[in-house]
Amino acid sequence: MAYKRPVTKENPYKICFVCLGNICRSPTAEGVFQNLVNERGFGSYFYIDSAGTSAFHIGEKANSKSRKVALENGVELKSRARRFERSDLDEFDLILAMDSENFQNINDLDPKNSHSHKIKKMRDFDPSPGDGDVPDPYYGGLDGFQNVYDVVYRSCENLLDELEEKIKS
Ligand code: 4NP
Repeated sequence: MAYKRPVTKENPYKICFVCLGNICRSPTAEGVFQNLVNERGFGSYFYIDSAGTSAFHIGEKANSKSRKVALENGVELKSRARRFERSDLDEFDLILAMDSENFQNINDLDPKNSHSHKIKKMRDFDPSPGDGDVPDPYYGGLDGFQNVYDVVYRSCENLLDELEEKIKS
């Protein structure tokens, strides 16, 4: 995994979760991962953000169904949608795309592949990765949002297990 420097409170590990609209999947991942690091006492070792590769929903709160499902699981989604920028490639240590389309959109901003070592997919960390994509729930019902939550939770737990090992070592 992209991890090339000591992680301290002064120099936290920076993760950006990325989907299309930045209102459903990536805000869920941002909120879940933030909750997990807080629960484990690592809050100050991480800087966690999310973004979308489209401009459709800039400035919006997370989708009401995403917020409802997250809140039922004790996670408050506080994000406002923003677009993923080329400068985010420099800014973050790890950039996690929710699906192949967004993985491609991010890589399109990096034509020389100088950041490809830190661009991964969320379900690379899912112990049951399915087809590798976190499915887009936007046009569907609440069950799709619950599925996103479950997939993202599993993947975030596993990701944090891996990062925690490195922070301790
Ligand atoms: P997200 O979901 O990428 O998980 O935030 C979507 C949100 C909006 C749209 C598509 C997906 N849209 O087409 O507007």
